[in-house]
Amino acid sequence: MADFSDKLVEIRSQMSEKKKKREKKVSMKKAKVLGEKSSEKMFEKNFGIKEYFDRVKSGVPGIDEVLHGGIPKGNLVVIAGGPGSGKTSFGLQFLYEGAKNQGEPGVFISLEEEPERLIKNAKGLGFDFEPLIKEGKVLIIKSAMYQLNTLFSNIKEVVRKMKAKRLVIDPGALLRLFFETEIEVRKAFVDLAGLLKKMDITPLITTDFSLEAGKQFEMEEYAADGVILLYHTRIGNIYQRMIAILKMRGTSHSEKVHPFKIGYGGIMVYPEEEVFREME
Ligand SMILES: Nc1ncnc2c1ncn2[C@@H]1O[C@H](COP(=O)(O)OP(=O)(O)OP(=O)(O)O)[C@@H](O)[C@H]1O
Ligand SMILES: [Mg+2]
Repeated sequence: MADFSDKLVEIRSQMSEKKKKREKKVSMKKAKVLGEKSSEKMFEKNFGIKEYFDRVKSGVPGIDEVLHGGIPKGNLVVIAGGPGSGKTSFGLQFLYEGAKNQGEPGVFISLEEEPERLIKNAKGLGFDFEPLIKEGKVLIIKSAMYQLNTLFSNIKEVVRKMKAKRLVIDPGALLRLFFETEIEVRKAFVDLAGLLKKMDITPLITTDFSLEAGKQFEMEEYAADGVILLYHTRIGNIYQRMIAILKMRGTSHSEKVHPFKIGYGGIMVYPEEEVFREME
C-alpha cells in the first residue's frame, strides 16, 4: 500500500494537471475574445506571455531575466526600498546602460544628493558618467524643492532638450514634502504619472519601503506600472540583499525573491538563486 507522502504526490500532480487544463481553457477563451486565431498552435506559442511591448534593457545583470526580457518600454517603474537598499545605485546603473550601450540618452533628477556626489559614487560602482555628460548623453541635475509646477516644467524641458529616453527621479519619496495631505499626494502623483507617460521615456522613481518598518504600500506603488522591491534585511547574523518584482504591467515575471549584491560593476542579481525555498 502506498504511504501517505506517495498519495500526497499523486493528488498534487492530479491537481496540477487539472489546473493546467483549466488555465488552457481560459486562455483559449481570452484569445477568442481578442479576435485572434485561437488555434491550438497559436495558444501554445503564446502561452504565458504575449509580447505587446518593446523591452528596455535595465543594465542590471540578472534583472532582465527576472523580468522575462526587460522593463516594458514606457512603463513607469517605482524602485522601492529601505535606507541603503540600492535605489540610487539602481537608477544610476539604468541610466548608464541606456546612454553607454543602448543609444538612449537619460536624465537623473536628484531631489537630495548633489550631482557631483552622485557622479563620484557612480564612479566607485564602475560607472564613469563624466564622458557621457560631456557628450550630452546624460544630464544629472539637482532640482530645488520650490514648487511642483516648476519641477514638472523642468522635467518636460530637460527631457525634450536631451531627447531623453530614460528618466530617474530620486528620491521620489521627497516629492511628498510638497504636500500636507495624502489626497494632495495622490493627485500630484497621478499628474506626474500622466506627464511622464505622455513623453516617450521609461521613467524610474525611487520610494521608501521597508519590511522592518512595516510600512504599507502607498499611492506611488499602486499607480505605477511596475514596482521593484529592494530589501536589505537581517537574516540570522547577516544583512542580506534581496530583490523581488511586486508587479510589472505588460509582462510575466519571476514571483520569487532573488538575492543580489552591490559592488564594483553595480547591482548584480542572481536569477537562478532563491533566498527562500518553497516549503515541502
Ligand atoms: N562602490 C561600492 N562598492 C560596494 N558597495 C557599495 C558601493 N557603493 C555603494 N555600495 C553599497 O550600496 C549601499 C547604498 O546604495 P544606494 O545609495 O544606492 O542605496 P539607497 O537605497 O539609494 O540609499 P538611501 O536610502 O540612503 O538613499 C551602500 O550602503 C553600500 O552598502
Ligand atoms: Mg539613495
